[in-house]
Amino acid sequence: MRCIEFLAEDAPVFLDAHNACILLKARQKELASVEVSLDLGLSTQSVDFSEWDCDAQELDKIVKKPNSAYIIRDGTANEIAIRNSIEYRLRPTEKGQAPALVIDEELMHQIAPLGPMEYARRRAELAVNPGWRVLDIGTGLGYSAIASLDRDAHEVVSIEKHPEVIELSRMNPWSQRLHEDERVSIVIGDAFEVVSTLRVDSFDSVFHDPPQIQLTPKLYSTKMYRLIGQVLVPDGQLCHYVGPEGFSYRGQEVAKLVENRLRGNGFHSIEFIPKLQSILATYGDK
Ligand SMILES: C[S@@+](CC[C@H](N)C(=O)[O-])C[C@H]1O[C@@H](n2cnc3c(N)ncnc32)[C@H](O)[C@@H]1O
Repeated sequence: MRCIEFLAEDAPVFLDAHNACILLKARQKELASVEVSLDLGLSTQSVDFSEWDCDAQELDKIVKKPNSAYIIRDGTANEIAIRNSIEYRLRPTEKGQAPALVIDEELMHQIAPLGPMEYARRRAELAVNPGWRVLDIGTGLGYSAIASLDRDAHEVVSIEKHPEVIELSRMNPWSQRLHEDERVSIVIGDAFEVVSTLRVDSFDSVFHDPPQIQLTPKLYSTKMYRLIGQVLVPDGQLCHYVGPEGFSYRGQEVAKLVENRLRGNGFHSIEFIPKLQSILATYGDK
């Protein structure tokens, strides 16, 4: 039996190693049905093998690659990845947690002990209030943007350098609200240039969520922080991913380096939160 592409009308089937393993074992035991997730852990459902089934070889292929996620197309399991000069892919995380983004083998999300979406929610609880306008630098899979929507943000402007990442997010069941909610606008471009074109004082909160400093030093520069300050209203909030506690770059602790640069560019009440690997700061006069 080949993989059947759609479980129900318009609902594509996604699988990771954990769920492929459940399906394989259930088939080996000749069960009539099994409880499984066909959307990368977003929900679970009972699959009746008389209505849906999947080739054991395809399932086996998925089980052997626990760091990849798959979509079933034309009866075969296809890795959710885009490869040109750079490789972009979804990486499953713990059971029932959102997948992470991997760019050229660099993990773009904090994944333990919570999942990437849960971390985004915790950050948004600290940095977004209802009715706020949010600037989201580094869209990625849109988890910060979605967490801002859950906090009743009025609008979210989200900047992403790589169109491939946005394409990947369209394939991720956990990212769908990024594309469906009218409050979100996605701008493709280098944040360093795009932020300088935005209106002064136009955001209440900024998520600055760049890759680690050694990959994008420009996004941790004094000039970047000046640009972010310009678009924030007085008392506006910044939530900035800086990496784990003690993480250093060129002999300097990154959290300290960022703190000093922010202080020099009009930010105050700067606090490093190790559990969230992030700095929170307020813009303007104290
Ligand atoms: C840590 S991930 C962001 C995760 C995202 N906030 C989320 O919630 O899923 C960093 C993102 O920044 C993007 N990026 C890297 N350099 C950039 C730049 N100069 N301008 C805008 N985005 C950039 C990467 O492609 C990647 O998607």
